[in-house]
Amino acid sequence: MSNAIGIGMIGLGTVGTGVVQLLQDAPSAMRRRRHVDFAIRRVAVRDVGKARDVDLGAGVVVADARQVLEDPSVQIVVELTGAAPAYEWIRAALQAGKSVVTANKAVIALHGAELFAIALDRGVDLMFEASVAGGIPIIRSLRNGLVANRVESLHGILNGTTNYILTRMTRREGDYADILADAQKEGYAEPDPTADVSGADAASKLAILSRIAFHTTGTAADIYCEGIERIEASDIEFAGELGYTIKLLAIARLVPGGVEARVHPVMLRHDSQLANIHAEQNAIEIVGSAVGTQVFTGAGAGKMPTASAVVADLVELAERKSAGASTAIGDMIVGDEAAHFAPMEDAELRYFLRMQVADQPGVLAQVARILAEHQISISSVLQKERGLQGDTVPLVIVTHKAREGSMQQAVSAIDGLALVDGGVRLIRMETT
Ligand code: NAP
Ligand code: HSE
Repeated sequence: MSNAIGIGMIGLGTVGTGVVQLLQDAPSAMRRRRHVDFAIRRVAVRDVGKARDVDLGAGVVVADARQVLEDPSVQIVVELTGAAPAYEWIRAALQAGKSVVTANKAVIALHGAELFAIALDRGVDLMFEASVAGGIPIIRSLRNGLVANRVESLHGILNGTTNYILTRMTRREGDYADILADAQKEGYAEPDPTADVSGADAASKLAILSRIAFHTTGTAADIYCEGIERIEASDIEFAGELGYTIKLLAIARLVPGGVEARVHPVMLRHDSQLANIHAEQNAIEIVGSAVGTQVFTGAGAGKMPTASAVVADLVELAERKSAGASTAIGDMIVGDEAAHFAPMEDAELRYFLRMQVADQPGVLAQVARILAEHQISISSVLQKERGLQGDTVPLVIVTHKAREGSMQQAVSAIDGLALVDGGVRLIRMETT
């Protein structure tokens, strides 16, 4: 057997296929690192009969992940399935003394603390660069390049599928369902795209970045999360008229007593940098105490960008192994300095409110009174004339900064007004 490092993969779908292609076609920069030599020994898939775009030789593709985990010639396990048992496979690999590379943000966000501790205990590594922002080396940048900084805030477009949907809806290139189907065909969406459109995928990624940037220990379930399912073409149109673009943002920032962390659609001014990140591209704007503002942009989903991040982890592991270095997972263990997520009700934000109201005297006064009673100050109001059909007119209100808890109470009260038809649509506004 050669001295090549034995790779065992679980999953040979969109990302797995890209990883095999990159390893088989190692670019010159990788070849120059002569101590980096990989051999793909086993690849587990769900359906061994399926035609593949890569040739791995006889007997390499197997039907059971245990054949990868139990193969003594496999030193690094690459988990690329998104399947339910992924957590058990990663844990078993680490416990067996094998390093792991994964793109699985849900597992790292939920079980990271336990898995990092196992890796430290066994003296192996758990690498997850591909789990956040596809091809952008944001994990490496936060863990290494920006390590001298106290991170003050982080604003990210962290989900390629939703950014692709919102971009194409803004360009009037189809309706929500058709564009989502295109994102699935392009290989951007999760096997179950609910995680994308509900914001859960972005919340998992935010939990991971927040652990590194702010030393929080909370999971995605502790992060306020709203998806894009309720965004309508008319929201995008009104936002455009006011000079704003709608994006799904993941936001974490230091506040007195903790870290404010939230995922939801936001309105950004047309000329802001994040408003101009299109399609499946991702972006992360970080404000650090020493570097100031830095923006990382690039492909956040898709076969080759994600595979690029996986292979970067493999090369780092190979170099560390060749240098005889011990595990580098220590910085992911959060001890006494753990920070906590602050309650969403305490966030202070600006809001865009849209409602259909009866075209009658006093309606605007009733809505304004409720906002005033909750200490919410109005910045601008836009009401359109009644069209040929219907008795209601759209009313749009943009507020100054207000407390989230007060805004939620005000929205419930406005929803109860007889003259408001169908309830209030609320989109938060953000300055980046
Ligand atoms: P995918 O195209 O659906 O591929 C999943 C692979 O896992 C397939 O090869 C499938 O086998 C295999 N698999 C599923 N269940 C299995 C089981 N029980 N045992 C063995 N193999 C099993 O998914 P993907 O897009 O490559 O995503 C993989 C992971 O990368 C996910 O965690 C995802 O969140 C993450 N990720 C994806 C992207 C992206 O842009 N796609 C970006 C970043 C991170 P068959 O081929 O036989 O069906
Ligand atoms: N489904 C994910 C996205 C893949 O659309 O961003 C990248 O993590």
